[in-house]
Amino acid sequence: MFDYAGKKVFITGGTRGIGLAIATRFARAGADIAINYLRNKKGAEDAVAQLKAASGKTPLLLKGNVAKDEDIAEMFGILKDKWGGGLNFLISNAASGVLKPSAELTYHHWTWTLDINAYALLALSRHAVPMMKGNGRIVAVSSLGATHAFNNYAAVGASKAALESLVRHLCVEYAEHGINVNAVSASVVDTEALAHFPNREIMIKDSLYWTPAKRLVEPEDVADGVMIMCSDLTKMVHGQTFIIDGGLSIKLPG
Ligand SMILES: NC(=O)c1ccc[n+]([C@@H]2O[C@H](COP(=O)([O-])OP(=O)(O)OC[C@H]3O[C@@H](n4cnc5c(N)ncnc54)[C@H](OP(=O)(O)O)[C@@H]3O)[C@@H](O)[C@H]2O)c1
Repeated sequence: MFDYAGKKVFITGGTRGIGLAIATRFARAGADIAINYLRNKKGAEDAVAQLKAASGKTPLLLKGNVAKDEDIAEMFGILKDKWGGGLNFLISNAASGVLKPSAELTYHHWTWTLDINAYALLALSRHAVPMMKGNGRIVAVSSLGATHAFNNYAAVGASKAALESLVRHLCVEYAEHGINVNAVSASVVDTEALAHFPNREIMIKDSLYWTPAKRLVEPEDVADGVMIMCSDLTKMVHGQTFIIDGGLSIKLPG
């Protein structure tokens, strides 16, 4: 459906779950891919093999913590070397966070979560924008927790609210430089991340029950949203959060 041949895309957390689905969509559309991860080397190598099988091209694999300025600088140094300074799309997808009732959240839990999920977009954009040379897209991956409450999600929800606000502020600064900044947000997606939720089973059961479309959002649904946000169909879309939830967030009881 989309042709991104000749385009270069950097996807943080692109080695599994939603990030890998996004990378796979771009690979099939002909783009040159760079994916980042932090800890799971074996998973990252499997993702490289999977992307190569999908497109015939070997993606760049960049290890680093998106919450750390020095890791981000190192990854962009490699990108510049390998890609000759060009970048079309930045997908800020990597996320983590402490899942606990708010009474148990410490300052360390808070800064850990906010740094990875919100500060990363600020730091990544600082490096990405000069490489885009007046024509690019930045897409942040968010969740319904930015605007709605889930059990154990206070820190992550607050980090996603900060992320979506940052998207609006960055969009105003970068629009005149030819860069669109938007977010794609999703309801519950059954990735490895969900295994860390103490209430995983009930989240899946309730999501299935309340979602008007009567199925969970799949990683590929989120990837489709990102593809649209990077396409020529959204040239004048700036600072928006594109919600992919099968209608869950607008459903009231009854
Ligand atoms: N799953 C959901 O229900 C859901 C719903 C809505 C939105 N989202 C959002 O979608 C995005 C992807 O979620 P997911 O469920 O696919 O996550 P996931 O399965 O947990 O995958 C996370 C990816 O991010 C990487 N990562 C984690 N912390 C990192 C860090 N500090 N620096 C660099 N890379 C890091 C991981 O690398 P390693 O493998 O090395 O750890 C992995 O590649 C996130 O922004 C998430 O908030 C998820």
